[in-house]
Amino acid sequence: MRTVRTVQGLRAVLEPARHDGLAIGLVPTMGALHEGHLSLIRHARRQCDRVVVSLFVNPSQFNERADLERYPRSEHRDAELAEQAGADILFAPTVEEVYPSGFATAVEVLGVTERLEGAARGSEHFRGVATVVTKLLCMALPDVAYFGQKDAQQVVVIRRLVADLNLPVQIEALPTVREPDGLAMSSRNALLDPHERSRALALPAALEAAVGLTAAGESSAQAILTAAREAMRPFAVEAEYLALVDPETLEPLEVLSGAGLLALAARIGAVRLIDNVLLQAVSPTHPAPQSQGKAISTCSV
Ligand code: PAF
Repeated sequence: MRTVRTVQGLRAVLEPARHDGLAIGLVPTMGALHEGHLSLIRHARRQCDRVVVSLFVNPSQFNERADLERYPRSEHRDAELAEQAGADILFAPTVEEVYPSGFATAVEVLGVTERLEGAARGSEHFRGVATVVTKLLCMALPDVAYFGQKDAQQVVVIRRLVADLNLPVQIEALPTVREPDGLAMSSRNALLDPHERSRALALPAALEAAVGLTAAGESSAQAILTAAREAMRPFAVEAEYLALVDPETLEPLEVLSGAGLLALAARIGAVRLIDNVLLQAVSPTHPAPQSQGKAISTCSV
């Protein structure tokens, strides 16, 4: 695996593959790689001839300075893990390479950025994500780019910008990878102390309660959200937001009549975590499929 730090270097190293018409896959990351990232890299390895992993902690998407400063950084370890998972190229640019002096452009996606994470973190968060993802796509010019479904709203935003800007790239979203006890893998988990780590199980508990109630035939959003909130209570964790929304428009649902995205964010001490699950309404005449109602750790979200 080669590490490159400049856009020019990245283009040069990909040129022979592009010339030969080989498929290029991009896995954008902010580093602190965990099994969720590695599953994206392995998937890209199976589908593409060349796999680029980008490693860039993007300052413009952090709405809190403290969150940016404490974000885990471990390039040496990340490089080893990315290589083992099948990456050919690690693209690890500096902040100056991505945002050179005089940089003055932003990509802003309207509508789908205004709820959930957008409402909680402010408009600069998704402006930062949309801008850096657009830049990474323009830098690497991949055929396919891979993202984790844990950041469900981010996937919706990226699909929107790719469609709106006619970017010639396929976006693949892959299921959230979970710890054996159900906690979604996240780079921020490393910041939890042991007590906080056990309280963080409030998030999968909320999702599991919602999955169980839906599988039992409940379709009222209010009832599903109440059950999810109740399931968090024993952990002394309150959701920053907890919402049942349309998975594509992210508009709130009052009744689950098809698919619905249950999304939540919560602070455990100083660490802010997000999670989500895709719920499917169960009609009285069609029993719940096998996966509905199973433990969240086995659900594909
Ligand atoms: O999901 C992330 O890690 C980041 O938001 C991304 C897509 C790499 C952009 O900085």
